Amino acid sequence: MKKGKKLYEGKAKIIYATNDKNLVIQYFKDDATAFNNQKKTTIEGKGVLNNRISEHILSNLSQIGIKNHLVKRLNMREQIIKLVEIIPIEFIVRNVATGSITKRLGIEDGTVLKEPLIEYCLKDDKLGDPLISEEHIFAFDWASKVEIDKIKKMVLRINDFMIGMFRGVGIKLIDFKLEFGRTKIDGKNDVILADEISPDTCRLWDSITEKKLDKDRFRKDLGDLIPAYTEVAKRLGILHEQSNVSAVNVTKLSSVKRKKK
Ligand code: TMP
Ligand code: ASP
Repeated sequence: MKKGKKLYEGKAKIIYATNDKNLVIQYFKDDATAFNNQKKTTIEGKGVLNNRISEHILSNLSQIGIKNHLVKRLNMREQIIKLVEIIPIEFIVRNVATGSITKRLGIEDGTVLKEPLIEYCLKDDKLGDPLISEEHIFAFDWASKVEIDKIKKMVLRINDFMIGMFRGVGIKLIDFKLEFGRTKIDGKNDVILADEISPDTCRLWDSITEKKLDKDRFRKDLGDLIPAYTEVAKRLGILHEQSNVSAVNVTKLSSVKRKKK
């Protein structure tokens, strides 16, 4: 597989072409952003951990029949993925109210929801990823009814699976964000899970202490982001108990370089 030119650079990842027109390489950067790029830094080793954690979760989801873009992990920072047309919607799933919903609706932080809540946001950084309704999605043709129905079923299945997977390792899945892409499977149009699932895109709390093991450590200036992500990777069995991210210098991994707040 030959790595070609850069096709797209996002806040946390870069997509490169390959010599196969249907496949691209997804590179995980160490950049961390929050609140739509208002707060930025580089945290050495974050990309390595997210690459591994996302690979683990997407491979497990494949095994329960959730089609997704992952083909295989190439190295510490890169994966081969299927090229898809990303649907411009962020699908947010909430099991417990925290973050933006508590501010937006005045809900008490930590309120356990009766049922998982799916929210849609338009994927547009300049507009600050605004919350939208299904009616907006259909009115502006951001996705079809068939696609949304299919995605909603997948989203709830993914939530059920991930709640169980994390519960088994002493972590509560509070909320997370998913993205989906259009592709052709055997000549037929389909939608598959894309992007990443990692502590950057989920809120993960220790089941007993409720310690935050996700990007809120950066958003809220709690520090120790790498130890928290490493803890998630270890509990999922991706890293051995003693090891920090293999082949990467531990001290380098822990150092946080602040660029700009
Ligand atoms: P929020 O409380 O800020 O709306 O975030 C809800 C969840 O979605 C949380 O797990 C973080 C994740 N998320 C992203 O991964 N990317 C985003 O752009 C946003 C807004 C949220
Ligand atoms: N992903 C968004 C950003 O990087 C928002 C967030 O995760 O807080 O700005």
